[in-house]
Amino acid sequence: MTTPNIMKTTIAKSDDLKEIISLFTNTINSVCAKDYSPQQRAAWTAGAKNTERWRTKLEQQYFIVARQEETLLGFASLDNNYIDFLFVHKDFQGLGIAKQLYDALLQKAIETSVGTLRSNVSLTARPFFEKMGFEVIRKQDNPTRGVNLTNFKMEKRLEKKTEIESLQ
Ligand SMILES: CC(C)(COP(=O)(O)OP(=O)(O)OC[C@H]1O[C@@H](n2cnc3c(N)ncnc32)[C@H](O)[C@@H]1OP(=O)(O)O)[C@@H](O)C(=O)NCCC(=O)NCCS
Repeated sequence: MTTPNIMKTTIAKSDDLKEIISLFTNTINSVCAKDYSPQQRAAWTAGAKNTERWRTKLEQQYFIVARQEETLLGFASLDNNYIDFLFVHKDFQGLGIAKQLYDALLQKAIETSVGTLRSNVSLTARPFFEKMGFEVIRKQDNPTRGVNLTNFKMEKRLEKKTEIESLQ
């Protein structure tokens, strides 16, 4: 696995918003198509149209983007102890980009003394989160626009010393 070697991770800016929303929609409609039907994906991506909601998240969360030159490779965000987003460009899957974004969130979580990291994780992302040491707490039904968007409540207890070692 080779992470693009000139990839840079930075704090997201409002100028990134258009590309973030586009990556979100495209990744759901391609990478998540094996797990969610067209109706489910339409319900999931419908939320992307609320630009103001995104802008608020960008301002209030620890919201980061990974870029290789002009290309947005992925984005992720942490809202206190909750991982709200972790998305990688459909054409750059399996290159270690999510791991790098996750490590930046983990570092932030350690700095802010988070005890337990939480997320509501898609069927598609569950294996990644398991690999990062998260456990499924429960399967969740999320009725959304007439369909059910199944996901998993997952958690990982942070043992500070072990996590710092994993970042080195
Ligand atoms: C889940 C997702 C973020 C993973 O991104 P990625 O950049 O391909 O993941 P990485 O390459 O960093 O993978 C890191 C490790 O997790 C493992 N992994 C990632 N996805 C996996 C999968 N579907 N099945 C098994 N292992 C997986 C990789 O093999 C890798 O392990 P390694 O270090 O031993 O090689 C990406 O597939 C994605 O964008 N999914 C759709 C969006 C989504 O559902 N987001 C989450 C909403 S909660």
